[in-house]
Amino acid sequence: MVADKMADKSLTKGGKFKLILPDDLAADRTIKAVSSIEVVTFKQKPRLYIIGMGCADTSLVTLEAISYMGKADVFVCPEDIQKRFAKYMGNKPILFDPLRNTEYMFKKAHPDLPPEEMKRSLEAQRTEDIQRIKDALTAGKSVALLEYGDPTVYGGWMFWLDEFKDKTQVIAGISAFNSANAMMGRHIGCKGSIVITVPQGLKDNEAMLKAVADNGDTLVIFVGLRELKTLRPLLQKFYSNKTSVHLVYRAGYSDSAYIIETSLKEVIERAEKEKEQHLGLIYIGPCLD
Ligand SMILES: C[S@@+](CC[C@H](N)C(=O)[O-])C[C@H]1O[C@@H](n2cnc3c(N)ncnc32)[C@H](O)[C@@H]1O
Repeated sequence: MVADKMADKSLTKGGKFKLILPDDLAADRTIKAVSSIEVVTFKQKPRLYIIGMGCADTSLVTLEAISYMGKADVFVCPEDIQKRFAKYMGNKPILFDPLRNTEYMFKKAHPDLPPEEMKRSLEAQRTEDIQRIKDALTAGKSVALLEYGDPTVYGGWMFWLDEFKDKTQVIAGISAFNSANAMMGRHIGCKGSIVITVPQGLKDNEAMLKAVADNGDTLVIFVGLRELKTLRPLLQKFYSNKTSVHLVYRAGYSDSAYIIETSLKEVIERAEKEKEQHLGLIYIGPCLD
C-alpha cells in the first residue's frame, strides 16, 4: 500500500508518501513522488490442468503433479485416484469420474440399452459433464483432470476435451511405457528406433509396419491385448513366427507387475491364459533377444 496520510494527517517528513508492506516493521520506506499506480493481479486465469499421475504405484507421481494439484479448485478423477491421492486433494470438490464417459464403462453401467440408445445417452452424459467443466471455469475455478500415465500418450481426455484446448495445460506423468522399459531393462533401441503405436495405427499404416520390421526396430503397442486375434495376422505379414514378443503386464505396480516372453506364433494362446486383459504393453522385435 502507498499511504499519503498517517493518523489522518498528511505526511511531512521524508517525502509525501510511505510504502507500507504487509508484515514489514521497517519505518524508513519513504517515497518522494508517485507518477502512476498500476494494479497487477496475481490471481491466475482459470485453467484446465490435465495432470499425469503416473501409470501405477502411487509413488510414481511427480512433485510437479502434486504442486499443480494445489493450484486446482475442483477435480475430475477416477475413484481409484481419488482414494490414493486424497491427502493432496483436501476437501476440494470432485465434479465426476471421467471413466464413466468411456464406451466400455458406459456399456458396463447400462448393459440393457440398445446400441442406438446407448450412443445417444453416452453423448448426452458427455455433454453434461463438459458443461460442468465449463460452469466451473466460468465461475473462475481451475479444474484438474487427474489422468493415468502420461496424459499425452493415448490419454482418453483427448477425444472429448478438445474444445478446451486454449485453456488446457498438460502436466507430464510417468507412462506405462517408462515403467515397462525399466522392467525390460535392455537396449530396446538397439537397431535405432522405438516406435510407440496402437492396433489401429498399424492397420492404417502397413508401410510403416513393414519398414519397422525390415529394420528390426522395436514396436511397442498400447491397448493391444484384446486385439491380438486381428493383430497377429497383420504382424505375420512382415515378421516371422519366431520373432520375440514380450507382454509387459501391470508395469509399475510393484506387487503385481510381470513379463511374459513368447513368440509371434504363440502370443495369442499365452495372452489368453492371463486374467489381466487391459493393463499390458506388447513389445516386438529382435532387440528383445
Ligand atoms: C488409454 S491408454 C493410456 C496410457 C497412459 N496415458 C500411459 O501413458 O501409460 C491405456 C493403455 O495403456 C497401457 N497401460 C496403462 N497402464 C499400464 C500398466 N501399468 N502396465 C502396462 N500397460 C499399461 C495398456 O496398453 C492400456 O490398454
